[in-house]
Amino acid sequence: MKKALFVLLCCVVLLSFGACGGSGGNSGQPTIGVAIYKFDDTFMSYTRNAIQTNAQGKAALEVVDSQNAQATQNDQVDSFLTKKLSAIAINPVDRTAAATIIDKAQAKDVPVVFFNREPLPEDMNKWNKVYYVGAKAEQSGSMQGEIAYDYWTAHPEADKNNDGVIQYIMLMGEPGHQDAELRTQYSIQYLIDKGIKVEELQKDTAMWDRPRAVEKMSSFLAAHGDRIEMVFCNNDDMALGVIESLRNAGYFQSGKYLPVLGVDATAPALEALAEGTLLGTVLNDADNQGKATFDVAYALATGADPAGSGWTITDGKYVWVPYQKVTQDNYKDFQK
Ligand code: GAL
Ligand code: CA
Repeated sequence: MKKALFVLLCCVVLLSFGACGGSGGNSGQPTIGVAIYKFDDTFMSYTRNAIQTNAQGKAALEVVDSQNAQATQNDQVDSFLTKKLSAIAINPVDRTAAATIIDKAQAKDVPVVFFNREPLPEDMNKWNKVYYVGAKAEQSGSMQGEIAYDYWTAHPEADKNNDGVIQYIMLMGEPGHQDAELRTQYSIQYLIDKGIKVEELQKDTAMWDRPRAVEKMSSFLAAHGDRIEMVFCNNDDMALGVIESLRNAGYFQSGKYLPVLGVDATAPALEALAEGTLLGTVLNDADNQGKATFDVAYALATGADPAGSGWTITDGKYVWVPYQKVTQDNYKDFQK
């Protein structure tokens, strides 16, 4: 009897601290833990803002910067789970680390929504309270290819050496990231499928990062100079770095031009489109990815079925947010 009373008292105390039911927010709102692979990433900062905006008035968030270190993120996840938050939304540093995160979360029965970095299918299938919100990387690749195709077929002068082949540079994001691998593959595949001949002059990674892209492009220019006819970048930050490097080398003045393509449609990329330095980009819809991430996590945190959150859930666990082509013709529609 005494023991039962003691347990009951403990639970009352714990509940008043919000620890029993996992609801640490104000006035009974759930608390959701959010880990971002690193804050210092343009596109992820847009996604993070969207998650925060959508949480307002509904849930408390604990948002942490994993500083591009999986070990740091694992500790952050442990801390979320120790606090027994109602759900966690994870943007993994290394997407192959998802398995460990899922196992730990399942042991504490805390649902997980991954976003932006897609876990392997076998990991996604480990537990039914695991979801993924993202975009189909292949689609962004094909759209980039389409923009390149339209430009190439409308501008015969783009074939500088007149050999009927696009001599191109490919600047990749982080190796192993689905967006880096698939954008690289599908952009070029689109051109090949359309019967365009292509020649890769060089392929390298700049890790999604603008300053690294400036450096890489300078060395590509030193190695290949005017032989380069097009530059594909897996994201806009790198495309902007390439443009900076080209500008330093005298491009974008006195008629000297090189088509550069990106992905994300960040604000600075839209400005570059407006000034005519960036040929095109693809909207990676941070607003809707952030909203879907929050909505699904919130449904799970409150014990609701994410299928009722207004998003189409594919295969019981995936929310796919579509990409959109952004060119000279429509970039104004995306400026905020
Ligand atoms: C991609 C995005 C990149 C970078 C990366 C981070 O979807 O295009 O700019 O933010 O995610 O994982
Ligand atoms: Ca050529």
